[in-house]
Amino acid sequence: MQPNPSFPSSSDPVVSLGELLGALSHALDMAEGRPPGHAMRCCWIGMEAAEALDLTTSQRSDLYFTLLLKDLGGSANAAHICQLFLTDDIGFKRSHKLVDGTARRGLEFLLSHTASESGFLKRLGTVSNVLRHSDDIVAGLFKARSDRGAELARVMRFSEDVAEGIANLDEHWNGGGRPAGLNGSEIPLYARIALLAQVAEIFSSETGHRAAISELQSRAGAWFDPDLVPVFVDVLQRPGFAQAFHDPGLEAHLLASEPARQAHLVDEDHLDEIAYAFAKVIDAKSPFTAGHSERVAQLISTICTEMGYSTGHRRWMMRAGLLHDIGKLSVSTAILDKPGKLTGAEFDQVKLHPLFSQQILGRIPAFHDLSITAAAHHERLDGKGYPYGMTAAHLTRDMRVLSVADIFDALTSERPYRPALPLEKVCTIMDQMVGHAIDIDCYAALQTAIANS
Ligand SMILES: [Fe+2]
Ligand SMILES: [Fe+2]
Repeated sequence: MQPNPSFPSSSDPVVSLGELLGALSHALDMAEGRPPGHAMRCCWIGMEAAEALDLTTSQRSDLYFTLLLKDLGGSANAAHICQLFLTDDIGFKRSHKLVDGTARRGLEFLLSHTASESGFLKRLGTVSNVLRHSDDIVAGLFKARSDRGAELARVMRFSEDVAEGIANLDEHWNGGGRPAGLNGSEIPLYARIALLAQVAEIFSSETGHRAAISELQSRAGAWFDPDLVPVFVDVLQRPGFAQAFHDPGLEAHLLASEPARQAHLVDEDHLDEIAYAFAKVIDAKSPFTAGHSERVAQLISTICTEMGYSTGHRRWMMRAGLLHDIGKLSVSTAILDKPGKLTGAEFDQVKLHPLFSQQILGRIPAFHDLSITAAAHHERLDGKGYPYGMTAAHLTRDMRVLSVADIFDALTSERPYRPALPLEKVCTIMDQMVGHAIDIDCYAALQTAIANS
């Protein structure tokens, strides 16, 4: 399907904040190894529980977005998890969320998830390193996640209460949480609610709502605010909870709820800030992609200027550049950072990322056309690209611009299996791609922009 986009004008709001972040929360779910809609279901459970609390409209809105964006900083520790535990970050995170924090379960988890595919000696060395430095390692992982989540919430113009709610998600009522070891009511209310909602959602999803209720009750006073636990148990015990929890219409119901409807429409400037924030989430997955999406957006800007794009169209293209790799949050950093050749199965996973970009961005009606353009960034004129194997007949000028910018940045950046290539070498490689892989006019515009810079 060919996109037929309408481009940003200077002022008209195009999308609601709830709809936009509800869609983008699906990317956060992927990075955490949770099933699609995890953050939305957490948001629903948390907001149902909050009915019992006397919150103002503005507090309800803050809580709503804290719940939706609780994992905003999650990708900031993905590469460290892979390096320290010699494992796949997504599987590690998925399983870790089911560990209850007791020393015995923690040790069992560590032994089963550290270097599990390495030889005995390597495994032994990795496990003993983790055990020797476990406090520092765990503290560092949680701090990176916490700091990044709060920083990006602020970039997206959320209040300090939302930023602090996200930053303190992993604090526990008894002071045993991370990163600061806050105690009791020192932990911000939204963070206490978000942790309860998270555990309620994960156990309801994995083992059923009765198991989730026992999990909440058994951790009351340890992980959870003991006064809030009965409120959540009440929600989970409601007749119809399980049905509503699994109802495909739950997301639409949540988007129609008061906090999502009350949230303002996002104007073009704010939309750009949110796109920049999510570009940082995407690029944090791997040290080798640090800054990639922002650089691609900048390259797109220069190519578009050179090719005479209108201001609105160029802005739209930059947004596609910022978000084109959002589906990469579904790929383990162990694969993205692998120093050697990928296996067939690993490459199959990588090849899915543009499809996930399309699915996530396509959830936002105003991003329908942008999602189609973004999904085509690994396509080639000769049909040998992925995921669709589109050919020149179907690749629009916008798709070709994005592809040229993406390839140029990939070649000029360090990769796990090679250093960054010098400009001369990059030009030699791209010269050879012209006509069968990349578009001659887009590449010429890039060359002119480079020559003039
Ligand atoms: Fe990509
Ligand atoms: Fe890319």
